[in-house]
Amino acid sequence: MSGALLNLSGVSLAFAGNTVLQNVDFQVAEGAVVSLIGPNGAGKTSLFNCITGFYKPQSGAITFDGHELLKLRPHRVTASGIARTFQNVRLFREMTVMQNVMSGMHSRTRSGAIAAILRLPSQRAEEAAIRDYCEGCLRFVGVGPEEYDRIATTLAYGHQRRVEIARALATQPKLLLLDEPAAGLNAGEKQDLIALIRRIRDERGISVLLIEHDTGLVMQVSERISVLDHGAMIAEGTAKQIQSNPKVIEAYLGQEDAEAELDF
Ligand SMILES: Nc1ncnc2c1ncn2[C@@H]1O[C@H](COP(=O)(O)OP(=O)(O)O)[C@@H](O)[C@H]1O
Ligand SMILES: [Mg+2]
Repeated sequence: MSGALLNLSGVSLAFAGNTVLQNVDFQVAEGAVVSLIGPNGAGKTSLFNCITGFYKPQSGAITFDGHELLKLRPHRVTASGIARTFQNVRLFREMTVMQNVMSGMHSRTRSGAIAAILRLPSQRAEEAAIRDYCEGCLRFVGVGPEEYDRIATTLAYGHQRRVEIARALATQPKLLLLDEPAAGLNAGEKQDLIALIRRIRDERGISVLLIEHDTGLVMQVSERISVLDHGAMIAEGTAKQIQSNPKVIEAYLGQEDAEAELDF
C-alpha cells in the first residue's frame, strides 16, 4: 500500500538481544481507523514508541506523510503530524487541565515556551489564540469550563483520559495513536470513547491507530485490524476475518483471559 499515510516496512527492534519486533510491515491508510491487537507483551506499545521516535529500531523504515520518521527526534515526529496518548495516563502533575492541553499546542507554535515567559504583545495574542483553540479541543472531548483550572490529575480518571486526548488533538495531528484508551473506563465511558474516536476521524479528518484490549470496542470502531504476536504481525483484515483466523485464536490461547480477549 504505497499510498498509505503511515508505512512501516521490515521494522525490527531488540533490547539486549531480546527480540521485541521482528520484520514488521504495517500500514495505516489516510482517513482510516485501524486497530492493533495482540497478547500482553506482543510489542504493541514498542511499535508506537518506534513510530514516535522514542525507540530506534535496528532495521527497517517508517514513512509518514512524506517524512522518514526514523531520522527524526520525537518532537519533530510530533511536528510532522503524529500525536499519541499513553497506556498509563501521563498528564503533567503540577498543571491545570488547560495548561496540559496548551502544552500540546506549544509544540506546534513558533514562539512556543518563550512566548509564555516573555509575554511580548504579539505573543500574548498568540497565547489567546492558543487558549481558544485548546478550549475547542476540550469541548470536543467533553470536558467543560468548570474543569479547565483544576489540577488535571485530580479529575475523575475517565476525564483525565479525555484531557490526554485533548492535549494530543491540540498538536493538530494528521494521525492519532491511542494506547489502550478504554483501560479503566466503565461501559458508558467506553461507548462515549467509541463515539469520540468516530468524531475525531469524521469531523477532524484525523486518522486513528488504536491499541486496545477490549475486542468488542475494537470490532465496533475499526475498519482494519492487525494482530501482533511475539513481535511478529500474524494477521491483518476486517474484524470478521480476524475473529475467525486460526493463527489469532492460537495466539490468544494460554492467555489467562483468553475468552474475554476473543469475545468479539
Ligand atoms: N525499554 C525496554 N527495554 C527492554 N525491554 C523492553 C523495553 N520496552 C519494551 N520491552 C519489552 O518488549 C516486549 C513488548 O513490550 P510492549 O511493547 O510493552 O508490549 P505490549 O504493549 O504489546 O503489551 C516486552 O517483553 C517488554 O519487556
Ligand atoms: Mg502496551
